[in-house]
Amino acid sequence: MTKRSVVRGCGSYLPRQVLTNAELATRIDTSDEWIVQRTGIRQRHIAADGEFTSHLALNAAHAALADAGMDAQQIDLIVLATSTPDNTFPATAVAVQHGLGISHGAAFDLQAVCSGFIFALATADNFLRTGGYKRALVIGAETFSRILDWNDRGTCVLFGDGAGAVVLEAQEQPGKSFDRGVLTTHLRSDGRHKSKLYVDGGPSSTQTVGHLRMEGREVFKHAVGMITDVIEDAFAATGLGADDIDWFVPHQANKRIIDASAHKLHIAPRKVVLTVDLHGNTSAASIPLALSVAVKDGRIKKGDLVLLEAMGGGFTWGSALVRW
Ligand code: UT7
Repeated sequence: MTKRSVVRGCGSYLPRQVLTNAELATRIDTSDEWIVQRTGIRQRHIAADGEFTSHLALNAAHAALADAGMDAQQIDLIVLATSTPDNTFPATAVAVQHGLGISHGAAFDLQAVCSGFIFALATADNFLRTGGYKRALVIGAETFSRILDWNDRGTCVLFGDGAGAVVLEAQEQPGKSFDRGVLTTHLRSDGRHKSKLYVDGGPSSTQTVGHLRMEGREVFKHAVGMITDVIEDAFAATGLGADDIDWFVPHQANKRIIDASAHKLHIAPRKVVLTVDLHGNTSAASIPLALSVAVKDGRIKKGDLVLLEAMGGGFTWGSALVRW
């Protein structure tokens, strides 16, 4: 027998306001046709004035706990992935912890930009498997609308706001590839690429929040290779392969990157969960948002093998294989 982090519940939250490509085209020199063709994005959600990352995260956490049929008091670890925290400190995770009415256990933020959810999942999984904690909330939550340069058409059309969460519970499993839970995680970073996707401000450098800057073509060029490479690591570690996958839930940055990655890995298009059209790129929130959509509409079911991957600023990239 071995300890596994089993998914007990999943939930998400999107701010009410929807911003369509057509609305963007009235403000900047772009078009619905260009955005759809180059990215697959049709609309994104934008947080309201006074609606913070912690508010989105708390709503997603409540939804995940309700899905798990659990009380917040049962949670003893909160790992929140975000690059858009409410404040420089304290961690947005402690605002969520407080909002849930918990004052035991530990809550902290983790920052790996668009790969944040995979990094947070891997972190929580390691804590649960080594017995330090019993039940974890893993959250991805972002308000990227607050760090966009709304005059830069190369970036402002790409991102959106939202949050998603999963509840993990440490459970004894047989120790086989048919176990339920997180079967393997693989994380990578390479700081040589740190200037290709970054925010041009920060507490230590400029004492400002700054705006997102990206060399889109450069990111695109590396994305498919890095994603498929780290997925091959997951396959090698478990002996599982593309044919065993029930659902591929990638980070939702660009439909062309997702399609090319699935094609290279021989994953059938019908197994790919796509939400980039409706949510845009919500960075660390995109994977749990997509998971939540596919669980709610009945696609992802108990026992299904789900492949997750992400790549983003740093560069950071990672994969996870989870039996639901
Ligand atoms: O989640 C983190 C990871 N991030 C990503 O994965 C993003 C990766 N990169 C991308 O998804 C793509 O590179 C973009 C969607 C950002 C851009 O697509 P692209 O096919 O690489 O376009 P490009 O940057 O090469 O630009 C092509 C043309 C340029 O015009 P010229 O120089 O050919 O005349 C741009 O100025 O498209 C122009 N352009 C736009 N036109 C209309 C750039 N943005 C826009 C826009 N509307 N919003």
